[in-house]
Amino acid sequence: MTTIAHISDLHFGCEAPMVREGLLASLEHINPELVVISGDLTQQAKRREFQAAHAFLATLPYPYLIVPGNHDLVENNLPERLLFPWQKWRQYISRELEPVIHEEAYVAIGVNTARRVSLNPDWSRGSISRMQVARIRRQLQTTPTTHLRLLTAHHPFWLPPMFAHRELVKRGASALQAFQSEVDIILSGHVHLAYAQVTQGVIVSHAGTTLSNRLLLHHTNSFNVIRGDRQRLSVELMEWGSQRFRFARQQVFRREDAGWHQQH
Ligand SMILES: [Fe+2]
Ligand SMILES: [Fe+2]
Repeated sequence: MTTIAHISDLHFGCEAPMVREGLLASLEHINPELVVISGDLTQQAKRREFQAAHAFLATLPYPYLIVPGNHDLVENNLPERLLFPWQKWRQYISRELEPVIHEEAYVAIGVNTARRVSLNPDWSRGSISRMQVARIRRQLQTTPTTHLRLLTAHHPFWLPPMFAHRELVKRGASALQAFQSEVDIILSGHVHLAYAQVTQGVIVSHAGTTLSNRLLLHHTNSFNVIRGDRQRLSVELMEWGSQRFRFARQQVFRREDAGWHQQH
């Protein structure tokens, strides 16, 4: 059984130091094989925020897979955004924008859905290109069928009805169709809301904001723990409760010929 911790939207610059310590304590107890971090590592892509994020990552005693989010692109410096969009990311976080980790029981693939420019007036919206979809499918073609297949992207491929005003990742619907029966679970963030749902036979699972004070009304910091294999997966929600992270709920999913479905 594989155990993966999924944290997101850390937003260094707006992080809560006590929650950060609580996260490290909780991870020590869970002892994940991998920590997935689905973007928005910083608040305004400032150098000191990237430095704080770098210091945090250096304390993580687990392998991690990380992709950028829209907040990791600088907003108020157009020349930097256009000409050197990922310079600080590569300097402080990773040379890779789209890492891939192959392990004995799983493959974890990162895809960068943040864009420096967009025709959409909302530049925070994400996009997945046909080339990115083709690359992911190629990588999965050589993956043993028994391996759990995780994809990580910052932006959402599915949104709950209360978030209908937010936009899905551009080309998300056709990408989901292409990923059917190839990708098991997509791990994302961006909306700062934890939820998991099967869409087109694929599990779409979002982590809330794990460390930041950018909380939705009536929500607290959270992260998810994914456990299982290609037959059965559980998504556990861990919520911050003033002193520490506590187990809040679990959803269980099973895979059949038509894809994944939630067990009730
Ligand atoms: Fe965010
Ligand atoms: Fe975001």
